[in-house]
Amino acid sequence: AKIKDVDFVKSSNRPKDCPKDDRPEFAMLGRSNVGKSSLINFLVRKKEVALTSKKPGKTQLINHFLVNKSWYIVDLPGYGFANAPESARMDWSSFTKGYFLNRETLVSVLLLIDASVPPQKIDLDCANWLGRNNMSMTFVFTKCDKMKGGKGRRPDENIRNFLELIKENYRQHPPWIMTSSVTGLGRDELLFHMSQLRNY
Ligand code: GTP
Ligand code: MG
Repeated sequence: AKIKDVDFVKSSNRPKDCPKDDRPEFAMLGRSNVGKSSLINFLVRKKEVALTSKKPGKTQLINHFLVNKSWYIVDLPGYGFANAPESARMDWSSFTKGYFLNRETLVSVLLLIDASVPPQKIDLDCANWLGRNNMSMTFVFTKCDKMKGGKGRRPDENIRNFLELIKENYRQHPPWIMTSSVTGLGRDELLFHMSQLRNY
């Protein structure tokens, strides 16, 4: 799963403006500031392909990146950020849900969960919504370098608790991967997982 090149294709402010294309794509979803844009840079090993910020609310549009001319990674605005400036705030439900429900080339949603905080209701609600709508999803725990104890390779209680809560709603919880864009944890595993999903 080698990444040879990555091209920014376009930013769309409506689901129907997304590229008309049949190449497979993966969407980055999660709370504002969870590390969606950072994860894209980490996967493609480029610093500023996707723009990141310490302040939540950085990504405001649907951004398509084409990898190896053959598949897309899509950076999405985060949810759960109520303090965005009025002009920039959007109705997450109609905007992003419209994208999920209508994008036929979407292979899987990568639902990013911050491993450095306890399970958040909004993330559980989001996972449940995706599950109810039969979306393929993968949990990607981010910021594992900030976990308490160990070197960040073993799931700590935040991750274990999150997966435990998910079990109440799924017979089998979705696949999950631990990552850190700081230490490089999980990169190969996630790229391999995505390549398997593409060939499925
Ligand atoms: P929005 O675009 O606002 O929805 O946020 P986002 O999810 O795209 O987050 P972004 O990638 O901009 O990262 C937010 C902050 O988290 C930045 O300051 C990053 O440097 C930091 N960050 C991202 N990933 C990691 C990680 O694995 N470890 C640590 N320690 N910090 C991280
Ligand atoms: Mg972002």
